[in-house]
Amino acid sequence: MNAARILDGLSHQEKKVLLALQDLSGSATPEQVFERGGFEQPVEVMNASSWLQSKSLIRIEEQATKLFAINNREVLIDGLPERQALTEISQAGGRLSLAELEEILGKETSGLAIGWLKRKGLATIEKSSDGPTVTMTDKGQSFLYSSMNDEFLLEILAAKELLESEIPEELRPSIPLLKSRQNMIIEKPLVRRKLHLTEEGKEVLALGIELKEEVAQLTPEMIQSGSWRKTNFRKYDVNTFAPVSYAAKKHLLTRVADEVRRIFVQMGFTEIDGEYVQPSFWNMDALFTPQDHPAREMQDSFYLKNPARISLDRDIEILNQVKKVHENGGDSGSLGWRYHWSREEAERALLRTHTTVNTIRYLAEHKEPPVKVFSLSRVFRKEAIDATHLPEFAQIEGILMEEGASFDMLVGVLREFYGRMGFEDIRVRPGYFPYTEPSLEVEVLWNGKWLELGGAGIFRPEVTAPFGIKYPVLAWGQGFERLAMLHWNLKDIRELYQTDMDFLRQSPIF
Ligand code: PHE
Repeated sequence: MNAARILDGLSHQEKKVLLALQDLSGSATPEQVFERGGFEQPVEVMNASSWLQSKSLIRIEEQATKLFAINNREVLIDGLPERQALTEISQAGGRLSLAELEEILGKETSGLAIGWLKRKGLATIEKSSDGPTVTMTDKGQSFLYSSMNDEFLLEILAAKELLESEIPEELRPSIPLLKSRQNMIIEKPLVRRKLHLTEEGKEVLALGIELKEEVAQLTPEMIQSGSWRKTNFRKYDVNTFAPVSYAAKKHLLTRVADEVRRIFVQMGFTEIDGEYVQPSFWNMDALFTPQDHPAREMQDSFYLKNPARISLDRDIEILNQVKKVHENGGDSGSLGWRYHWSREEAERALLRTHTTVNTIRYLAEHKEPPVKVFSLSRVFRKEAIDATHLPEFAQIEGILMEEGASFDMLVGVLREFYGRMGFEDIRVRPGYFPYTEPSLEVEVLWNGKWLELGGAGIFRPEVTAPFGIKYPVLAWGQGFERLAMLHWNLKDIRELYQTDMDFLRQSPIF
Protein backbone atom coordinates (compact mmCIF):
# COMPACT_ATOMS: atom_id res chain seq x y z
CA MET A 1 0.00 0.00 0.00
CA ASN A 2 1.16 3.50 -0.79
CA ALA A 3 -0.25 5.42 2.18
CA ALA A 4 0.74 8.84 0.86
CA ARG A 5 -0.95 8.27 -2.46
CA ILE A 6 -4.09 7.00 -0.81
CA LEU A 7 -4.11 10.02 1.48
CA ASP A 8 -3.92 12.31 -1.56
CA GLY A 9 -6.98 10.71 -3.03
CA LEU A 10 -9.17 10.91 0.06
CA SER A 11 -12.28 13.05 -0.11
CA HIS A 12 -13.17 15.58 2.55
CA GLN A 13 -15.86 13.29 3.94
CA GLU A 14 -13.56 10.28 4.02
CA LYS A 15 -11.01 12.30 5.98
CA LYS A 16 -13.67 13.38 8.48
CA VAL A 17 -14.72 9.79 9.06
CA LEU A 18 -11.12 8.68 9.58
CA LEU A 19 -10.45 11.51 12.04
CA ALA A 20 -13.67 10.83 13.95
CA LEU A 21 -12.79 7.14 14.22
CA GLN A 22 -9.34 8.05 15.51
CA ASP A 23 -10.95 10.21 18.21
CA LEU A 24 -13.35 7.40 19.06
CA SER A 25 -10.38 5.06 19.72
CA GLY A 26 -10.62 3.21 16.43
CA SER A 27 -14.16 1.79 16.52
CA ALA A 28 -17.55 3.44 16.47
CA THR A 29 -21.03 3.24 15.07
CA PRO A 30 -21.91 5.46 12.09
CA GLU A 31 -24.22 7.37 14.43
CA GLN A 32 -21.35 8.15 16.79
CA VAL A 33 -19.22 9.31 13.87
CA PHE A 34 -22.09 11.48 12.66
CA GLU A 35 -22.43 13.09 16.07
CA ARG A 36 -18.75 13.99 16.05
CA GLY A 37 -19.90 16.65 13.65
CA GLY A 38 -19.09 18.12 10.31
CA PHE A 39 -21.68 16.09 8.42
CA GLU A 40 -24.96 17.32 7.09
CA GLN A 41 -26.75 14.01 6.77
CA PRO A 42 -26.17 10.61 8.38
CA VAL A 43 -25.93 8.92 4.94
CA GLU A 44 -22.76 10.87 4.25
CA VAL A 45 -21.01 8.83 6.92
CA MET A 46 -21.94 5.51 5.35
CA ASN A 47 -21.15 6.73 1.84
CA ALA A 48 -17.68 7.79 2.87
CA SER A 49 -17.31 4.61 4.90
CA SER A 50 -17.97 2.32 1.95
CA TRP A 51 -15.29 4.12 0.01
CA LEU A 52 -12.91 3.86 2.94
CA GLN A 53 -13.64 0.16 3.15
CA SER A 54 -12.97 -0.31 -0.58
CA LYS A 55 -9.58 1.33 0.08
CA SER A 56 -9.02 -1.03 3.04
CA LEU A 57 -8.73 1.86 5.49
CA ILE A 58 -11.67 0.75 7.59
CA ARG A 59 -13.68 -2.38 8.08
CA ILE A 60 -17.45 -2.24 8.31
CA GLU A 61 -18.89 -4.79 10.67
CA GLU A 62 -22.48 -5.65 10.07
CA GLN A 63 -24.84 -7.32 12.48
CA ALA A 64 -28.39 -8.25 11.75
CA THR A 65 -30.78 -7.42 14.55
CA LYS A 66 -34.41 -6.48 15.07
CA LEU A 67 -36.24 -3.37 16.08
CA PHE A 68 -39.49 -3.69 18.02
CA ALA A 69 -42.32 -1.19 18.15
CA ILE A 70 -45.88 -1.19 19.43
CA ASN A 71 -48.47 -1.45 16.72
CA ASN A 72 -51.75 -0.99 18.53
CA ARG A 73 -51.75 1.69 21.23
CA GLU A 74 -55.44 1.18 21.97
CA VAL A 75 -54.53 -1.88 23.96
CA LEU A 76 -52.85 0.38 26.54
CA ILE A 77 -56.17 2.10 27.27
CA ASP A 78 -58.38 -0.96 27.83
CA GLY A 79 -55.62 -3.33 28.78
CA LEU A 80 -54.99 -6.80 27.35
CA PRO A 81 -58.15 -8.97 27.23
CA GLU A 82 -56.94 -11.18 30.09
CA ARG A 83 -56.26 -8.05 32.20
CA GLN A 84 -59.82 -6.85 31.60
CA ALA A 85 -61.13 -10.29 32.54
CA LEU A 86 -58.95 -10.49 35.65
CA THR A 87 -60.35 -7.18 36.91
CA GLU A 88 -63.92 -8.31 36.32
CA ILE A 89 -63.41 -11.69 37.99
CA SER A 90 -61.77 -10.03 40.98
CA GLN A 91 -64.66 -7.57 41.31
CA ALA A 92 -67.07 -10.50 41.20
CA GLY A 93 -65.22 -12.07 44.12
CA GLY A 94 -62.77 -14.31 42.28
CA ARG A 95 -65.25 -16.31 40.24
CA LEU A 96 -67.49 -15.56 37.31
CA SER A 97 -69.56 -17.63 34.91
CA LEU A 98 -68.36 -17.64 31.35
CA ALA A 99 -71.74 -16.34 30.26
CA GLU A 100 -71.42 -13.30 32.52
CA LEU A 101 -67.88 -12.63 31.32
CA GLU A 102 -69.10 -12.74 27.74
CA GLU A 103 -71.87 -10.38 28.68
CA ILE A 104 -69.45 -7.83 30.13
CA LEU A 105 -66.52 -8.02 27.68
CA GLY A 106 -68.27 -9.09 24.51
CA LYS A 107 -67.79 -12.41 22.77
CA GLU A 108 -64.56 -11.66 21.00
CA THR A 109 -62.63 -10.12 23.89
CA SER A 110 -63.80 -12.73 26.37
CA GLY A 111 -62.81 -15.49 23.96
CA LEU A 112 -59.30 -14.05 23.72
CA ALA A 113 -59.21 -13.46 27.48
CA ILE A 114 -60.08 -17.08 28.33
CA GLY A 115 -57.33 -18.37 26.08
CA TRP A 116 -54.70 -16.17 27.68
CA LEU A 117 -55.95 -16.64 31.26
CA LYS A 118 -55.45 -20.37 30.81
CA ARG A 119 -52.17 -20.07 28.95
CA LYS A 120 -50.73 -17.79 31.64
CA GLY A 121 -52.25 -19.79 34.51
CA LEU A 122 -54.21 -16.80 35.80
CA ALA A 123 -57.53 -18.61 35.99
CA THR A 124 -59.07 -22.04 35.56
CA ILE A 125 -62.28 -23.03 33.88
CA GLU A 126 -64.56 -25.54 35.49
CA LYS A 127 -67.85 -27.02 34.53
CA SER A 128 -70.57 -26.41 37.07
CA SER A 129 -74.32 -26.97 37.14
CA ASP A 130 -74.99 -23.58 35.60
CA GLY A 131 -72.40 -23.76 32.82
CA PRO A 132 -68.64 -23.14 32.68
CA THR A 133 -67.17 -20.93 35.38
CA VAL A 134 -63.90 -18.97 35.44
CA THR A 135 -62.00 -18.99 38.72
CA MET A 136 -58.96 -16.82 39.46
CA THR A 137 -55.80 -18.67 40.56
CA ASP A 138 -53.25 -17.50 43.15
CA LYS A 139 -51.06 -16.41 40.30
CA GLY A 140 -53.96 -14.39 38.92
CA GLN A 141 -54.42 -12.86 42.34
CA SER A 142 -50.75 -11.90 42.53
CA PHE A 143 -50.95 -9.94 39.28
CA LEU A 144 -54.06 -8.02 40.23
CA TYR A 145 -52.12 -4.92 41.19
CA SER A 146 -48.87 -5.41 39.29
CA SER A 147 -48.00 -5.54 35.62
CA MET A 148 -47.20 -8.78 33.90
CA ASN A 149 -43.98 -8.83 31.85
CA ASP A 150 -45.71 -8.59 28.49
CA GLU A 151 -47.76 -5.60 29.72
CA PHE A 152 -44.61 -4.01 30.98
CA LEU A 153 -42.85 -4.54 27.67
CA LEU A 154 -45.79 -3.02 25.80
CA GLU A 155 -45.55 0.09 27.94
CA ILE A 156 -41.84 0.44 27.28
CA LEU A 157 -42.36 -0.03 23.55
CA ALA A 158 -45.13 2.55 23.59
CA ALA A 159 -42.59 5.07 24.81
CA LYS A 160 -39.79 4.16 22.39
CA GLU A 161 -38.91 1.63 19.69
CA LEU A 162 -36.27 -0.73 20.98
CA LEU A 163 -33.56 -2.91 19.53
CA GLU A 164 -33.63 -6.49 20.67
CA SER A 165 -30.49 -5.86 22.70
CA GLU A 166 -32.05 -2.83 24.40
CA ILE A 167 -34.95 -4.84 25.78
CA PRO A 168 -34.21 -5.87 29.40
CA GLU A 169 -33.19 -9.50 29.58
CA GLU A 170 -36.09 -10.57 31.84
CA LEU A 171 -38.63 -9.09 29.39
CA ARG A 172 -37.28 -10.80 26.29
CA PRO A 173 -39.28 -14.04 26.76
CA SER A 174 -42.40 -11.86 26.39
CA ILE A 175 -41.47 -10.97 22.79
CA PRO A 176 -42.74 -14.24 21.28
CA LEU A 177 -45.89 -13.98 23.40
CA LEU A 178 -46.68 -10.53 22.04
CA LYS A 179 -45.69 -11.56 18.52
CA SER A 180 -48.18 -14.43 18.65
CA ARG A 181 -51.01 -11.92 19.05
CA GLN A 182 -52.41 -10.26 16.00
CA ASN A 183 -51.18 -6.73 15.18
CA MET A 184 -49.80 -6.18 18.67
CA ILE A 185 -46.18 -5.36 17.96
CA ILE A 186 -44.09 -4.78 14.85
CA GLU A 187 -40.74 -6.40 14.26
CA LYS A 188 -38.42 -4.73 11.75
CA PRO A 189 -35.20 -6.37 10.58
CA LEU A 190 -32.29 -4.01 10.94
CA VAL A 191 -28.59 -4.06 10.18
CA ARG A 192 -26.38 -2.53 12.84
CA ARG A 193 -23.03 -1.33 11.62
CA LYS A 194 -19.80 -0.64 13.35
CA LEU A 195 -16.78 0.97 11.75
CA HIS A 196 -13.27 -0.14 12.67
CA LEU A 197 -10.01 1.47 11.64
CA THR A 198 -7.69 -1.04 9.98
CA GLU A 199 -3.89 -1.08 10.23
CA GLU A 200 -3.77 0.61 6.84
CA GLY A 201 -6.20 3.24 8.09
CA LYS A 202 -3.97 3.93 11.08
CA GLU A 203 -0.97 4.20 8.76
CA VAL A 204 -2.71 6.85 6.68
CA LEU A 205 -3.79 8.72 9.83
CA ALA A 206 -0.20 8.64 11.06
CA LEU A 207 0.81 10.73 8.05
CA GLY A 208 -1.34 13.50 9.49
CA ILE A 209 -4.61 14.42 7.92
CA GLU A 210 -5.30 18.05 7.26
CA LEU A 211 -8.90 19.12 6.77
CA LYS A 212 -8.92 21.87 4.24
CA GLU A 213 -11.66 22.80 1.80
CA GLU A 214 -11.14 20.93 -1.43
CA VAL A 215 -12.87 21.26 -4.75
CA ALA A 216 -13.66 18.10 -6.70
CA GLN A 217 -15.01 19.65 -9.85
CA LEU A 218 -13.64 22.20 -12.26
CA THR A 219 -16.38 24.49 -13.58
CA PRO A 220 -16.44 26.77 -16.66
CA GLU A 221 -16.82 29.71 -14.26
CA MET A 222 -13.60 28.81 -12.49
CA ILE A 223 -11.78 28.72 -15.81
CA GLN A 224 -13.23 32.02 -16.95
CA SER A 225 -12.54 33.91 -13.77
CA GLY A 226 -9.13 32.32 -13.36
CA SER A 227 -10.03 31.34 -9.80
CA TRP A 228 -8.91 27.78 -10.55
CA ARG A 229 -5.34 29.00 -10.04
CA LYS A 230 -5.95 29.50 -6.34
CA THR A 231 -8.29 26.58 -5.91
CA ASN A 232 -7.32 23.60 -3.85
CA PHE A 233 -8.28 20.59 -5.99
CA ARG A 234 -8.85 17.17 -4.63
CA LYS A 235 -6.50 14.62 -6.17
CA TYR A 236 -7.84 11.45 -7.66
CA ASP A 237 -6.18 8.12 -7.14
CA VAL A 238 -6.93 6.43 -10.42
CA ASN A 239 -5.59 3.16 -9.05
CA THR A 240 -8.20 3.01 -6.33
CA PHE A 241 -10.31 -0.06 -6.42
CA ALA A 242 -13.88 0.70 -7.29
CA PRO A 243 -16.60 -1.91 -7.52
CA VAL A 244 -17.65 -2.48 -11.12
CA SER A 245 -21.31 -2.19 -11.81
CA TYR A 246 -22.58 -3.74 -14.99
CA ALA A 247 -25.42 -1.95 -16.63
CA ALA A 248 -28.40 -4.01 -17.61
CA LYS A 249 -28.50 -4.25 -21.36
CA LYS A 250 -29.98 -6.26 -24.15
CA HIS A 251 -28.02 -9.07 -25.75
CA LEU A 252 -25.66 -8.10 -28.59
CA LEU A 253 -27.76 -9.93 -31.16
CA THR A 254 -30.98 -8.37 -29.93
CA ARG A 255 -29.48 -4.94 -30.27
CA VAL A 256 -28.35 -5.51 -33.86
CA ALA A 257 -31.75 -7.06 -34.64
CA ASP A 258 -33.52 -4.01 -33.18
CA GLU A 259 -31.36 -1.80 -35.38
CA VAL A 260 -32.04 -3.84 -38.55
CA ARG A 261 -35.77 -3.75 -37.88
CA ARG A 262 -35.75 -0.04 -37.14
CA ILE A 263 -33.94 0.73 -40.40
CA PHE A 264 -36.25 -1.34 -42.61
CA VAL A 265 -39.32 0.09 -40.94
CA GLN A 266 -37.94 3.59 -41.46
CA MET A 267 -37.39 2.72 -45.11
CA GLY A 268 -41.07 1.85 -45.39
CA PHE A 269 -40.91 -1.96 -45.11
CA THR A 270 -43.22 -4.14 -43.04
CA GLU A 271 -41.97 -7.18 -41.14
CA ILE A 272 -43.24 -10.66 -41.95
CA ASP A 273 -42.37 -14.16 -40.70
CA GLY A 274 -43.51 -17.73 -41.23
CA GLU A 275 -43.19 -21.30 -39.96
CA TYR A 276 -39.84 -23.05 -39.47
CA VAL A 277 -41.31 -26.26 -40.83
CA GLN A 278 -42.21 -26.07 -44.52
CA PRO A 279 -43.00 -28.39 -47.39
CA SER A 280 -40.07 -28.47 -49.82
CA PHE A 281 -42.50 -26.95 -52.28
CA TRP A 282 -42.47 -23.49 -50.70
CA ASN A 283 -38.84 -23.60 -49.67
CA MET A 284 -37.61 -24.70 -53.13
CA ASP A 285 -40.04 -25.65 -55.92
CA ALA A 286 -41.96 -22.39 -55.81
CA LEU A 287 -38.56 -20.72 -56.15
CA PHE A 288 -37.83 -22.66 -59.35
CA THR A 289 -35.20 -24.77 -57.64
CA PRO A 290 -35.07 -28.06 -59.55
CA GLN A 291 -35.77 -31.22 -57.62
CA ASP A 292 -32.30 -32.57 -58.30
CA HIS A 293 -30.58 -29.38 -57.12
CA PRO A 294 -27.66 -30.17 -54.77
CA ALA A 295 -29.04 -27.84 -52.07
CA ARG A 296 -31.98 -30.23 -51.73
CA GLU A 297 -29.77 -33.14 -50.74
CA MET A 298 -30.08 -34.79 -47.35
CA GLN A 299 -26.61 -33.58 -46.44
CA ASP A 300 -27.59 -29.94 -46.87
CA SER A 301 -31.13 -29.70 -45.56
CA PHE A 302 -32.83 -31.06 -42.46
CA TYR A 303 -35.75 -33.21 -43.59
CA LEU A 304 -38.27 -34.15 -40.93
CA LYS A 305 -39.42 -37.59 -39.86
CA ASN A 306 -42.53 -36.28 -38.20
CA PRO A 307 -44.29 -34.89 -40.15
CA ALA A 308 -42.43 -36.49 -43.05
CA ARG A 309 -44.69 -34.80 -45.57
CA ILE A 310 -47.02 -31.85 -45.65
CA SER A 311 -49.98 -32.16 -47.97
CA LEU A 312 -50.24 -29.59 -50.75
CA ASP A 313 -53.95 -30.21 -51.29
CA ARG A 314 -54.71 -26.63 -50.33
CA ASP A 315 -52.17 -25.28 -52.85
CA ILE A 316 -53.29 -27.46 -55.74
CA GLU A 317 -53.72 -24.61 -58.20
CA ILE A 318 -50.31 -23.07 -57.69
CA LEU A 319 -48.82 -26.57 -57.51
CA ASN A 320 -49.98 -27.29 -61.05
CA GLN A 321 -48.57 -23.99 -62.28
CA VAL A 322 -45.22 -24.65 -60.65
CA LYS A 323 -45.15 -28.20 -62.03
CA LYS A 324 -45.63 -26.82 -65.57
CA VAL A 325 -42.91 -24.21 -65.15
CA HIS A 326 -40.48 -26.87 -63.93
CA GLU A 327 -41.35 -29.32 -66.69
CA ASN A 328 -41.65 -27.05 -69.72
CA GLY A 329 -41.67 -23.44 -68.66
CA GLY A 330 -45.44 -23.03 -68.65
CA ASP A 331 -46.43 -19.47 -69.51
CA SER A 332 -43.18 -18.00 -68.30
CA GLY A 333 -41.51 -17.95 -71.69
CA SER A 334 -38.87 -20.37 -70.40
CA LEU A 335 -38.21 -23.97 -71.44
CA GLY A 336 -38.25 -25.10 -67.83
CA TRP A 337 -35.95 -27.74 -66.37
CA ARG A 338 -37.32 -30.43 -68.70
CA TYR A 339 -37.76 -33.28 -66.26
CA HIS A 340 -40.62 -35.06 -64.58
CA TRP A 341 -41.65 -33.03 -61.54
CA SER A 342 -42.67 -35.05 -58.49
CA ARG A 343 -45.38 -33.88 -56.10
CA GLU A 344 -44.13 -36.38 -53.56
CA GLU A 345 -40.72 -34.71 -53.48
CA ALA A 346 -42.42 -31.30 -53.14
CA GLU A 347 -44.43 -32.48 -50.13
CA ARG A 348 -41.42 -33.57 -48.10
CA ALA A 349 -41.25 -31.63 -44.84
CA LEU A 350 -38.08 -29.78 -43.93
CA LEU A 351 -36.75 -27.02 -41.70
CA ARG A 352 -36.66 -23.96 -43.91
CA THR A 353 -33.19 -23.38 -45.34
CA HIS A 354 -33.70 -19.72 -46.12
CA THR A 355 -36.23 -17.00 -45.35
CA THR A 356 -36.92 -16.54 -49.05
CA VAL A 357 -39.73 -18.97 -48.28
CA ASN A 358 -41.34 -16.16 -46.24
CA THR A 359 -41.26 -13.69 -49.09
CA ILE A 360 -42.48 -16.10 -51.80
CA ARG A 361 -45.38 -17.18 -49.58
CA TYR A 362 -46.20 -13.54 -48.93
CA LEU A 363 -46.12 -12.82 -52.66
CA ALA A 364 -48.50 -15.70 -53.27
CA GLU A 365 -51.02 -13.81 -51.14
CA HIS A 366 -50.13 -10.28 -52.26
CA LYS A 367 -49.84 -10.09 -56.00
CA GLU A 368 -50.55 -6.40 -56.43
CA PRO A 369 -47.86 -3.76 -56.04
CA PRO A 370 -46.50 -2.13 -54.08
CA VAL A 371 -45.07 -4.87 -51.88
CA LYS A 372 -42.33 -3.87 -49.44
CA VAL A 373 -41.70 -6.48 -46.76
CA PHE A 374 -38.73 -7.80 -44.82
CA SER A 375 -38.11 -10.61 -42.38
CA LEU A 376 -35.41 -11.26 -39.83
CA SER A 377 -35.67 -14.82 -38.77
CA ARG A 378 -34.06 -18.18 -38.26
CA VAL A 379 -33.07 -20.76 -40.86
CA PHE A 380 -31.51 -24.22 -40.65
CA ARG A 381 -28.81 -25.94 -42.67
CA LYS A 382 -26.67 -28.99 -42.09
CA GLU A 383 -23.45 -27.17 -41.34
CA ALA A 384 -20.65 -28.30 -39.05
CA ILE A 385 -20.14 -25.78 -36.26
CA ASP A 386 -16.99 -23.70 -36.53
CA ALA A 387 -15.91 -20.08 -36.15
CA THR A 388 -18.00 -18.95 -39.11
CA HIS A 389 -20.77 -21.57 -39.38
CA LEU A 390 -23.77 -22.63 -37.36
CA PRO A 391 -26.55 -25.07 -38.29
CA GLU A 392 -29.07 -22.49 -37.06
CA PHE A 393 -28.65 -18.89 -38.03
CA ALA A 394 -30.71 -15.91 -39.07
CA GLN A 395 -31.24 -14.12 -42.35
CA ILE A 396 -32.28 -10.59 -43.19
CA GLU A 397 -34.65 -11.09 -46.08
CA GLY A 398 -36.66 -8.66 -48.11
CA ILE A 399 -38.55 -8.01 -51.32
CA LEU A 400 -39.68 -4.91 -53.12
CA MET A 401 -42.24 -5.27 -55.89
CA GLU A 402 -43.40 -2.26 -57.84
CA GLU A 403 -43.89 -1.15 -61.38
CA GLY A 404 -40.55 -0.26 -62.93
CA ALA A 405 -38.47 -1.72 -60.08
CA SER A 406 -34.94 -2.10 -61.39
CA PHE A 407 -31.50 -3.48 -60.76
CA ASP A 408 -30.33 0.01 -59.73
CA MET A 409 -33.12 0.24 -57.18
CA LEU A 410 -32.09 -3.11 -55.73
CA VAL A 411 -28.51 -1.98 -55.26
CA GLY A 412 -29.82 1.36 -53.97
CA VAL A 413 -31.97 -0.28 -51.29
CA LEU A 414 -29.07 -2.46 -50.14
CA ARG A 415 -26.66 0.48 -50.14
CA GLU A 416 -29.15 2.51 -48.12
CA PHE A 417 -29.68 -0.28 -45.60
CA TYR A 418 -25.98 -0.98 -45.10
CA GLY A 419 -25.19 2.72 -45.06
CA ARG A 420 -27.65 3.22 -42.19
CA MET A 421 -26.05 0.22 -40.46
CA GLY A 422 -22.77 2.10 -40.56
CA PHE A 423 -21.01 0.59 -43.59
CA GLU A 424 -19.09 2.93 -45.83
CA ASP A 425 -19.98 1.28 -49.13
CA ILE A 426 -21.26 -1.85 -50.81
CA ARG A 427 -20.55 -3.52 -54.12
CA VAL A 428 -22.12 -6.40 -56.02
CA ARG A 429 -20.64 -9.29 -57.97
CA PRO A 430 -22.48 -11.69 -60.26
CA GLY A 431 -23.80 -14.70 -58.38
CA TYR A 432 -26.14 -17.59 -58.98
CA PHE A 433 -29.47 -18.52 -57.43
CA PRO A 434 -32.02 -20.63 -59.32
CA TYR A 435 -34.74 -18.07 -58.57
CA THR A 436 -33.13 -14.78 -59.59
CA GLU A 437 -31.81 -13.23 -62.76
CA PRO A 438 -29.61 -11.31 -62.49
CA SER A 439 -28.22 -12.85 -59.29
CA LEU A 440 -25.83 -10.91 -57.09
CA GLU A 441 -23.42 -11.45 -54.24
CA VAL A 442 -23.41 -8.43 -51.97
CA GLU A 443 -20.19 -7.23 -50.40
CA VAL A 444 -19.75 -4.48 -47.84
CA LEU A 445 -16.72 -2.33 -47.14
CA TRP A 446 -15.66 -2.66 -43.53
CA ASN A 447 -12.39 -1.36 -42.14
CA GLY A 448 -10.98 -1.16 -45.64
CA LYS A 449 -11.92 -4.75 -46.54
CA TRP A 450 -14.66 -6.11 -48.80
CA LEU A 451 -16.69 -8.79 -47.06
CA GLU A 452 -19.47 -10.91 -48.49
CA LEU A 453 -22.70 -10.67 -46.57
CA GLY A 454 -25.39 -12.21 -48.75
CA GLY A 455 -27.22 -12.64 -52.00
CA ALA A 456 -29.76 -10.67 -53.97
CA GLY A 457 -31.40 -10.51 -57.35
CA ILE A 458 -34.59 -10.05 -59.33
CA PHE A 459 -37.03 -12.96 -59.26
CA ARG A 460 -37.08 -14.84 -62.56
CA PRO A 461 -40.27 -15.05 -64.63
CA GLU A 462 -40.27 -18.78 -63.78
CA VAL A 463 -40.86 -17.74 -60.16
CA THR A 464 -43.35 -14.93 -60.69
CA ALA A 465 -45.36 -16.25 -63.69
CA PRO A 466 -47.08 -19.15 -61.85
CA PHE A 467 -48.48 -16.56 -59.40
CA GLY A 468 -49.54 -14.18 -62.15
CA ILE A 469 -47.22 -11.47 -60.85
CA LYS A 470 -46.59 -8.88 -63.54
CA TYR A 471 -44.06 -6.56 -61.96
CA PRO A 472 -40.39 -6.99 -61.12
CA VAL A 473 -39.65 -8.32 -57.63
CA LEU A 474 -36.34 -7.22 -56.13
CA ALA A 475 -35.17 -9.73 -53.51
CA TRP A 476 -32.31 -10.16 -51.06
CA GLY A 477 -31.21 -12.46 -48.28
CA GLN A 478 -28.36 -11.33 -46.05
CA GLY A 479 -26.49 -13.02 -43.22
CA PHE A 480 -27.53 -11.65 -39.87
CA GLU A 481 -24.83 -13.09 -37.60
CA ARG A 482 -22.05 -12.03 -39.97
CA LEU A 483 -23.38 -8.53 -39.77
CA ALA A 484 -23.52 -8.74 -35.98
CA MET A 485 -19.93 -10.05 -35.89
CA LEU A 486 -18.71 -7.09 -37.90
CA HIS A 487 -20.75 -4.71 -35.78
CA TRP A 488 -19.30 -6.05 -32.52
CA ASN A 489 -15.92 -6.90 -33.96
CA LEU A 490 -16.09 -10.61 -33.13
CA LYS A 491 -13.91 -13.30 -34.67
CA ASP A 492 -16.02 -16.30 -33.77
CA ILE A 493 -19.73 -16.64 -34.51
CA ARG A 494 -20.17 -18.99 -31.54
CA GLU A 495 -19.50 -16.12 -29.15
CA LEU A 496 -22.90 -14.72 -30.09
CA TYR A 497 -24.71 -17.76 -28.75
CA GLN A 498 -22.61 -18.68 -25.72
CA THR A 499 -23.97 -18.00 -22.27
CA ASP A 500 -20.69 -16.59 -21.03
CA MET A 501 -21.61 -14.07 -18.36
CA ASP A 502 -18.23 -12.33 -18.43
CA PHE A 503 -18.36 -11.91 -22.17
CA LEU A 504 -21.89 -10.54 -21.97
CA ARG A 505 -21.12 -8.21 -19.07
CA GLN A 506 -18.08 -6.81 -20.77
CA SER A 507 -19.86 -6.21 -24.03
CA PRO A 508 -20.18 -2.52 -24.73
CA ILE A 509 -23.45 -0.75 -24.02
CA PHE A 510 -23.58 0.80 -27.47
N1 PHE B 1 -31.86 -17.23 -50.31
C1 PHE B 1 -30.51 -16.85 -50.58
C2 PHE B 1 -29.59 -17.49 -49.54
O1 PHE B 1 -30.07 -18.12 -48.67
C3 PHE B 1 -30.32 -15.37 -50.58
C4 PHE B 1 -31.14 -14.69 -51.64
C5 PHE B 1 -32.38 -14.20 -51.32
C6 PHE B 1 -30.66 -14.54 -52.91
C7 PHE B 1 -33.15 -13.56 -52.28
C8 PHE B 1 -31.37 -13.88 -53.87
C9 PHE B 1 -32.63 -13.40 -53.56
O2 PHE B 1 -28.38 -17.34 -49.59
